Amino acid sequence: MIRPVIAGNWKMNKTVAESVAFAVRLLAAYDTAPGPEVIIAPPFTALQAVAEAIRGSFIALCAQNLHEAEKGAYTGEISGGMLREAGCTAVIIGHSERRTLFGEGDDRINRKLQAALTTGLKPIFCIGESLRQREEDETETVIAHQLKEGLNNLTADDIVRLAIAYEPVWAIGTGKTASPEQAERVHRFIREWIAGRYGPECAATLAILYGGSVTPANIAGLMAQPDINGGLIGGASLDVDSFIRIIGN
Ligand code: 13P
Repeated sequence: MIRPVIAGNWKMNKTVAESVAFAVRLLAAYDTAPGPEVIIAPPFTALQAVAEAIRGSFIALCAQNLHEAEKGAYTGEISGGMLREAGCTAVIIGHSERRTLFGEGDDRINRKLQAALTTGLKPIFCIGESLRQREEDETETVIAHQLKEGLNNLTADDIVRLAIAYEPVWAIGTGKTASPEQAERVHRFIREWIAGRYGPECAATLAILYGGSVTPANIAGLMAQPDINGGLIGGASLDVDSFIRIIGN
C-alpha cells in the first residue's frame, strides 16, 4: 500500500509573510494528521520561515530546485546542504519549467537527483511529454528516455527514496487536465518501466504523482486510478482552502 502524497508547488508565488500565513492556516485545519503525506514547496526565500512555522508537524517542506554541486562559485544557486539546513526534506527536480525555460537537460537532472539523494533529500522527479510529442504518439518513447537518462546510475535503493511526478507539459497551467484514464496509462507505463529495470518490489512501493491542472474538482477521479498515488499541484495549491480540499479529496 503506497501512502498518497499531495504536494503543492508554489512556483514563483508568495512572499515570506504569505507563505507563513498559509502554513499556519493549513496546520490549524487539522487536529490530527490527514491521510496523505502533505508537502509544500515555497520559493527559496520563504523556506526557513515556513520551516519554523511547521516544525514538528505533519507538513513536509520541499524546495523547487537545487544545484548539484556541494558549494562553490555558482552565483545565484543553492545546494542540497543549504536546503537541508533551511529545513527541507524534499526537492522538486526536472520540472518542465526548469527543462524548457532554464535549459535543464536529462544529464543535468540526473546529477541533481544524485546530489539530492546524497544530501538526504527526497527528490520529486518530474517527467512528461509536450503536446507535439503526444500528438505524434511519442509519449512512451519520451517518458522512457527521461526515465533512463534521469535515473542513470541510480540503484533500487535510491529509487525507493524518491517520488516520480508525471506532468504532461500540455496540462500544466492550461486548465486541460489529462483524463484519469489518459494519466493512468502513462502512470502504469512508468511503474512497469521501473519494475523492468529495478524489480517489482521497488515499483510496488514507488509513489507516482500526477501534475497538470489538478483541482479540488478533478483530484478524486485521478486518485481513484490504481497507479496514481498523489498529485503535484501548482495553481490550485496557492489557495489554502483549495489545497485542503485536494488533501481531503
Ligand atoms: P498547475 O497545477 O498550475 O497546472 O501546475 C502543475 C505543476 O506544474 C506542478 O508542478
